[in-house]
Amino acid sequence: MSKQYKLIHLTVNGKEREVMVDVRASLTDLLRNDFRLTSVKKGCEVGECGACNVLINGECFNSCIYLAVWADGKDILTLEGLEGPNGELSDIQQAFIDEAAVQCGFCTPGTIMSAVEILNEGRELSDEEIRIRMSGHLCRCTGYENILRAVKKTMRQRLDAAAAREKEASACNKPKTDC
Ligand code: FES
Ligand code: FES
Repeated sequence: MSKQYKLIHLTVNGKEREVMVDVRASLTDLLRNDFRLTSVKKGCEVGECGACNVLINGECFNSCIYLAVWADGKDILTLEGLEGPNGELSDIQQAFIDEAAVQCGFCTPGTIMSAVEILNEGRELSDEEIRIRMSGHLCRCTGYENILRAVKKTMRQRLDAAAAREKEASACNKPKTDC
């Protein structure tokens, strides 16, 4: 019986957690049942639809086919962890709304977590690259084009903001300027 459960330590959305897990349980079940993180959806539960995607140490995984015990010592990020301290939406969440990339919303949290992985690379990806990177998601509503637009829009905004910051910093480094 004791071998059936294991105590693990992990970080979930920035908070350190300690929890006893059934060694047969999936990370999806741990996040939903123990931490009430219901953005993590149960779609196919066999790694086919992407509805359960979360970031593990910055990398996107299907949490339904990832055992909860494997999360020991890892840093987990779910959609809930993207919100600001007062529940403000992140840029990519807002872009999904603005570009009508959400309809029934079932696929949306997992899709956004894949988008976050892409955006965190801080580089410009072609449409083709984004399509390939997002290809692990099934969406029955949006037809995918709106999702692509939302990812591209956020990517552009972040790259423009980074370029503006860099320009400002290099202007400040010039001699005899008043920054
Ligand atoms: S529920 Fe995990 S991939 Fe479908
Ligand atoms: S918005 Fe309905 S499945 Fe994607």
